[in-house]
Amino acid sequence: MTIDDLMNMAPVIPVLVLGDELDPAALAETLVAAGLPVIEVTLRTPWALDALHTMAGVTGAIVGAGTVRDPRMLDDALKAGAEFIVSPGLTEPLGKAAIASGVPFLPGTATAADIMRGLDMGLTRFKFFPAEAAGGRPALSALAGPFPELRFCPTGGIRLETAADWLTMEAVTCVGGSWIAGPRDHDLAAIGTRARAAAALAY
Ligand code: 3PG
Repeated sequence: MTIDDLMNMAPVIPVLVLGDELDPAALAETLVAAGLPVIEVTLRTPWALDALHTMAGVTGAIVGAGTVRDPRMLDDALKAGAEFIVSPGLTEPLGKAAIASGVPFLPGTATAADIMRGLDMGLTRFKFFPAEAAGGRPALSALAGPFPELRFCPTGGIRLETAADWLTMEAVTCVGGSWIAGPRDHDLAAIGTRARAAAALAY
């Protein structure tokens, strides 16, 4: 699967900062059943790698690692079964290691210089992060001008109410966000309801 395949599977990639109370398999099953098969597990909590491994075994789930900051975290994520890698920013060591591994890779960018560093490495798909704080849709629209061939997954501050507007942008293939399932959300039925609403967004 390519990063384009992943970005085109659903309008929203749920970004999970997992607590330790929710069963990761049940959470993945809920998201898949709701129509959000591509799931990002951020490596920000001690149990994230184990949870990622469990979720990757759920039928229909395509589970990646987020918050991957360096090649060591990349290795850990790949060993745990991550099928794609998301990073908050792009460094040369991480970019080179991710490209060498062949895993679909979505590095964070917020400036033209970030984007040009990615282009130098042959990357053309980026997370736009932190999407709202970095200037929102006007900022991405301006950045996309000189780079019309690129496609983005804006993430950071996006909610159901604003996702639809982001998804109308030509440069945007999908969006990411933590509003569907946060670390303190334990109600799978409520998560399922939010996930179905996200999956129904036009894109
Ligand atoms: C990320 O890790 O991509 C962001 O922290 C997610 O942003 P959000 O919590 O504002 O959705």
